Amino acid sequence: MKKLRFGVVGLGMGKGHALGYQSHLQAELVALGDVDEQRLCAAADEMGVPETYTDVKAMFAKANLDAVSLATPNKFHAPLTIAAFKAGLHVLSEKPMALTVKEAERMLAASKAADRNLMINFSPNPSRDGDGAALQALCSPSAWRAGRSVTVAARIGCAYSKEQEP
Ligand SMILES: NC(=O)c1ccc[n+]([C@@H]2O[C@H](COP(=O)([O-])OP(=O)(O)OC[C@H]3O[C@@H](n4cnc5c(N)ncnc54)[C@H](O)[C@@H]3O)[C@@H](O)[C@H]2O)c1
Repeated sequence: MKKLRFGVVGLGMGKGHALGYQSHLQAELVALGDVDEQRLCAAADEMGVPETYTDVKAMFAKANLDAVSLATPNKFHAPLTIAAFKAGLHVLSEKPMALTVKEAERMLAASKAADRNLMINFSPNPSRDGDGAALQALCSPSAWRAGRSVTVAARIGCAYSKEQEP
């Protein structure tokens, strides 16, 4: 089976995505992107990824990717997601999806227009940052009474890391 070619943008949290792709049998980590060149080179050396980009749109255009992980600061999630769709890539973006509902709607419209998937890495951890409380609020009877249609998709996952391999 053909391996999917992945890129990762933003190498804080994104390093976890990158390690995940490197440890997956059907994935190939092809390129890394970050505006911080020092951080970019350090991550690329550490993970042995030869292709690096400080200009993310150049990465989308040149790296021949199937999909990209976006782990940049929140304000870049919408514009970079839309740019990735325009380049024909599938997108896994870090949470939060966007800064406003309008931005989120533009991301969904771009996903539909490009016929590419958008996934948000929303990993609730009630003990850490209150995300669990937000999910509970969405699922609460008062949310239903407000007459809003809410779809909640949940997954149980783990962060991949080479250190965790047996
Ligand atoms: N799912 C989770 O559990 C979880 C946990 C922590 C953080 N996050 C999310 O991950 C994202 C990143 O958080 P972080 O803590 O890694 O932040 P960080 O600041 O450590 O890393 C962000 C990186 O993005 C780079 N960057 C900034 N703008 C860029 C651009 N336009 N193009 C390319 N690179 C750019 C920065 O140079 C930096 O290296 C945030 O959206 C945050 O909400 C999610």
